[in-house]
Amino acid sequence: MSAHGEPQPMTARKGGALTGVADVPGDKSISHRSLILGAMAVGETIVTGLLEGQDVLDTAAAMRAFGAEVTRDDDGTWRVHGVGVGGFAEPEDVLDCGNSGTGVRLIMGAMATCPITATFTGDASLRSRPMARVTDPLALFGTRAYGRAKGQLPMTLVGAADPLPVTYTTPVPSAQVKSAVLLAGLNAPGQTVLTEAEATRDHTERMLAGFGAEISTEVTPGGRVITLTGQPELRPQSIAVPRDPSSAAFPVCAALITEGSEVLVPNIGLNPTRAGLFETLREMGADLSFENMREEGGEPAADLRARYSPDMKGIEVPPERAASMIDEYPILSVVAANAEGPTVMRGVKELRVKESDRIAAMADGLRAAGIEVEDGPDWWIVHGRGPGGIEGGVTVATHLDHRIAMSFLCAGFASRKGITVDDAGPIATSFPIFEPLMRGLGATLERASE
Ligand code: S3P
Repeated sequence: MSAHGEPQPMTARKGGALTGVADVPGDKSISHRSLILGAMAVGETIVTGLLEGQDVLDTAAAMRAFGAEVTRDDDGTWRVHGVGVGGFAEPEDVLDCGNSGTGVRLIMGAMATCPITATFTGDASLRSRPMARVTDPLALFGTRAYGRAKGQLPMTLVGAADPLPVTYTTPVPSAQVKSAVLLAGLNAPGQTVLTEAEATRDHTERMLAGFGAEISTEVTPGGRVITLTGQPELRPQSIAVPRDPSSAAFPVCAALITEGSEVLVPNIGLNPTRAGLFETLREMGADLSFENMREEGGEPAADLRARYSPDMKGIEVPPERAASMIDEYPILSVVAANAEGPTVMRGVKELRVKESDRIAAMADGLRAAGIEVEDGPDWWIVHGRGPGGIEGGVTVATHLDHRIAMSFLCAGFASRKGITVDDAGPIATSFPIFEPLMRGLGATLERASE
């Protein structure tokens, strides 16, 4: 079932070429952080280009529940009147974070060192995801967590009244865990020091510096060591959210595999901790160019141009690249199915604990659609059959996972018999305009009622 209503089956069929300009929405990671950091600053933070997907709207509602004023102007500008570091009020009701792991984990960190109690829940997908990865380090600050047996939501956190600063090494490559610890460290006296063996997306570090926190990153042989000085006064900011490279991935990859296509995706943030997919696609032989390369808000950005690429070859994706493209493996597997030969993806255990088990969800659907897939605990191999290699003619299960739904719809555009997803509803969590945007490029998408 869809996160917020009845399941919405949708079918993607082979039609003409995909052509035109794809203006994708704002970055989901930066949107969540804009609202949360805005709520922890003193004064008014102004945000333009915010992703108005359900995940982010749920975070906005949570910030209101903690006492911040969060409003939207008619022109789409968002304003957040923050309550200051340590200033969160106790929510009157349970906080429903919907489908969003990023939302719930970052918010848990942000409230963990405030002397308040909050109870969190979410949809069936979020209630099945591991939370101990966040509550274990938060316990070091003095935060107590009471959840279900396997550390799952619903869960109540009792914030630390006298938080201690923490030194912690993340056991899994996760920007959500890193960010939860750093946000908790904001209201702890002294220095919180976090080490991550592999670099994960660094939006929290960059944005904390922008809000005036004292934060530094040292690259050492053991990984990145991030030191944050607690109890700063965060200064409100004006934030122009860049467009989401993870959303750009869908029109880009759809164009690469759909005959005759050429799509321009303007103004995409290319932070190196997020851009691994585009490097991988180029190694496979994709006709993908970065135009108008520039700096925006201190981060690289470019317009992406993707053209139909019938000569792509399967490759071995370097495991050390996994963190920089972790959300893009589902759509990469669709491109891989349309490339010649095997694409090998290793070091990707984290895919099994996303909105769904993404290796299982993609492997099941691709196999049903006529593609051979092998998989193990932290690896999978897609045996590509070249252009038009996906037979289709099947309905696939999307398991409340927006990226699984969008990946199979893109697969449908290049399949011989079309692909139906059992529920396109969750797409609204991250890419609410996916359907009109893809139709605008010429894609054939049908809802069950049509
Ligand atoms: C995110 C981190 C990643 C990613 C998610 C967004 C973030 O999760 O999959 O979509 O904004 O910090 P992990 O930190 O669990 O890898």
